[in-house]
Amino acid sequence: MKVYKIIFNLIFFSIVSQGQNLISFPDTISGSVINLSIRDSTKQFFSSYNTKTIAYNGRYLGPTIFLNKGQNITLNVTNNLVDTTTTHWHGMHVSPNNDGSPHTMIMAGATWSPSFNVLDNACTNWYHPHLHGKTMSQVLKGAAGLIIVRDSIERSLLLPRKYGIDDFPLVCQFQTFDTITKEIKIYDEFDNFSMVNGTIKPLLNVPAQVVRLRILNASSHRVLQFGFNDGRTFYQITTDEGLLDAPVPLTRLRLGSGERAEILVNFSGQLGQIFYINQYGNELPSGYPGGPAMMNSPLGPLDNIAFNFLQINVVAQTASPITTIPASLTTNQITSQNGAGTRSFLIQGSPNNSMTNFVINGVKYNENVINFTTKIDSSMIWQITNQSMMAHPWHIHGNHFYILTINGVAPPANMAGRKDVVIIPPQGGVVRLIMKYKDFADSTMPYMYHCHILSHEDKGMMGQFVVKNKSQTTVGLGNSTLIVETLKLYPNPASDEINIVLTDFSNLNSTSLNIYNVLGSLVYSVDKIVTGSTVINAAVFCKGVYTVELKSSSQFLTKKLIIE
Ligand code: C2O
Ligand code: CU
Ligand code: CU
Repeated sequence: MKVYKIIFNLIFFSIVSQGQNLISFPDTISGSVINLSIRDSTKQFFSSYNTKTIAYNGRYLGPTIFLNKGQNITLNVTNNLVDTTTTHWHGMHVSPNNDGSPHTMIMAGATWSPSFNVLDNACTNWYHPHLHGKTMSQVLKGAAGLIIVRDSIERSLLLPRKYGIDDFPLVCQFQTFDTITKEIKIYDEFDNFSMVNGTIKPLLNVPAQVVRLRILNASSHRVLQFGFNDGRTFYQITTDEGLLDAPVPLTRLRLGSGERAEILVNFSGQLGQIFYINQYGNELPSGYPGGPAMMNSPLGPLDNIAFNFLQINVVAQTASPITTIPASLTTNQITSQNGAGTRSFLIQGSPNNSMTNFVINGVKYNENVINFTTKIDSSMIWQITNQSMMAHPWHIHGNHFYILTINGVAPPANMAGRKDVVIIPPQGGVVRLIMKYKDFADSTMPYMYHCHILSHEDKGMMGQFVVKNKSQTTVGLGNSTLIVETLKLYPNPASDEINIVLTDFSNLNSTSLNIYNVLGSLVYSVDKIVTGSTVINAAVFCKGVYTVELKSSSQFLTKKLIIE
């Protein structure tokens, strides 16, 4: 053993002298009350440069939150930034009020405390800010963390699960550092560095046994196309939101922004050897960010090339190592298509062939428009057609989905599990998904769907829908601009009085106005609102974000109101 150690130190030393940096793992946090605080910070990515960052709990990449299925949890998120933020639990099956969408703003100095029961199966989720227009800048500066959910099925399997010992979180990012100031530039097309867990030129020591890598593509833009430099086979065991039926042998793993996969890699008998996980951008099809040049956009320095993304040194085995890959994992129950309705989405460059600006069904995100409604407990097929020249990682909040087809073909085995992000292929690509919202009906607070390329999302490649109760007959107004004009709230943000101006809303004699706080409690209500102006006293409200709902028997609309 001593001899090995000396050999390792020698190898390690020579590697360090070549500029590789041992990666660290995000801190961990667990229990029934989780406190997070977000604030401006700095990190030394380059020696003697303090680069400005945004940190949860003080570190670039926040703590990994460990949750157990079935537990009750309260998260207190305190915003110590000078800016507003939100914190979204990407992948968690929670109500729209607990989801941390752009509507659930946390003002500077405020604390938001969602509380819920963990309904998710074992998986690797993540959290990140989701303030509309600011998501990219806050996430790229380091405000993101992992959520590891455990359950009894996963626990019964012979899998590596010692965090940082045989179970390694790998948060993969691309970043543009200014060549002179070393500040992070909020710009994704010309990313000049890749990082794992916030480390440039990363190095991971793995024991000579089966290890588990939890890979998150936390980049703003690029698609990961991973493989090992020795061409080895590895085994994918999870999709975004849960275990696959059985490990799927692969030599390449492709993940769009926001996607996760856990893989098993067997390093048994390879003590002392060095391997690399490579990014094979040169293998990506045209139209995939990170691949070949797209239309009018020039190539970035890390596009369309193969390079070492992560160096792996194989070190001594741990006590009681896992040395085998399990034959089976779980049984996924794909949502039945019986009686399912279909909803169609069309992605287009706007103006035509734009590579930076995209619309869904002809419109951009408007926080005041609910794009559609869906019924609780009904299966829904989403058919997404991409007419643009570029691939888009499509993400849906609040629930998992299963992929039915990609360009008419059933998904490959490693995509057949619970997903929440799927890449929609460019130039006429069509993906069909199926899902069923079973738990949280809310007629006012929407769930979001959007492209997870953060610059696209920030520019409005996003929409929202509400899940309504079976008995509710109210129907959202779809992509109508009329409803935006009918209700005006000013000033907004308000501090002493709020003017509510209503111009034209049908069935006015049976239209009610309700104001809800972030927890969904009714705090103000008028049974019969009249056309014209109503003034209400803002001083009776606590500071925060409210949802103003206007509702008749056939229509409703919502607006956000901020009280400062
Ligand atoms: Cu990871 Cu709506 O986002
Ligand atoms: Cu999400
Ligand atoms: Cu996009």
